[in-house]
Amino acid sequence: MNRITVTPLAPALGAEISGIDLRRPIDADTLAEIKQAWADHLVLRFRGQLLSDPQLLALSGLFGELDPPGPNPYGKPFLSDFPEINVISNVKVGGEPIGNLGDGEAVWHCDMTYVANPPRAAMLHALEVPESGGDTFWSNMYLAYQTLPAEMKAKIAGRKAIHDSTYNSAGMMRKGMKAITDPREAPGAHQPLVIQHPDTGRAALFLGRRRNSYIVGMDLPASEALLDALWEHATRTEFTFRQQWRLHDLILWDNRCTLHRRDSFDPDARRVMHRTQIKGPAVVAFGA
Ligand code: SIN
Repeated sequence: MNRITVTPLAPALGAEISGIDLRRPIDADTLAEIKQAWADHLVLRFRGQLLSDPQLLALSGLFGELDPPGPNPYGKPFLSDFPEINVISNVKVGGEPIGNLGDGEAVWHCDMTYVANPPRAAMLHALEVPESGGDTFWSNMYLAYQTLPAEMKAKIAGRKAIHDSTYNSAGMMRKGMKAITDPREAPGAHQPLVIQHPDTGRAALFLGRRRNSYIVGMDLPASEALLDALWEHATRTEFTFRQQWRLHDLILWDNRCTLHRRDSFDPDARRVMHRTQIKGPAVVAFGA
């Protein structure tokens, strides 16, 4: 039996799991312990894990059915042998990007919430990391909802927002999309602002991404002002965990109750990450 240790990484969320080699079979008790730690801490870090792509896929499959990446700006998977794996990288080979998101900031977001059934989880595996920069941050959306002032809770109760599918978190337009000038016309799923987590049943703030968001049924200036206030609250430093990447780190996060963003880094440095996602059920409004 594996003997894991769970060490919290920040007061709000994040824990390190040590004492396990993810290339080896994981027994049922250990998997249950990891899942419990994940439910408790929302983001799990495993250090020093050098996994091949098939090993990354097998590990991801222990947490549910794989969910292929959404459309990228280049219109085809980055790894033709493993289309379920997304590549996050600034590296170009022969002038062609080998991955998505480049070297700039990736703004706060939740993955693929512009579809009705966004992924429940994602895994990011660090294969090449810059000496500095490119840190990734997660924020706890259970905590963001719990600590929301009562009048803001009342304003968003029963409301939905548009989760725009036009741009990715690096500001690049997805293939086949066209520019949006009025957020009320943005394409993408209409999602409840407060959701019920499918596993824990807890309430979480569900914001998606700020660009082109719109609270359905509000006049536009009121929606903009309320969204600005919600985003400012949801990304307060005390709700976050900061990941400074080391080679072969692997992070697993819950996409239903966290937001994440990434810092920019030196364009001359190389950063290569392989990423998987796990399918999730339809989003449900809290208390529906
Ligand atoms: C992402 O948003 O999935 C990428 C995060 C990162 O590059 O660290």
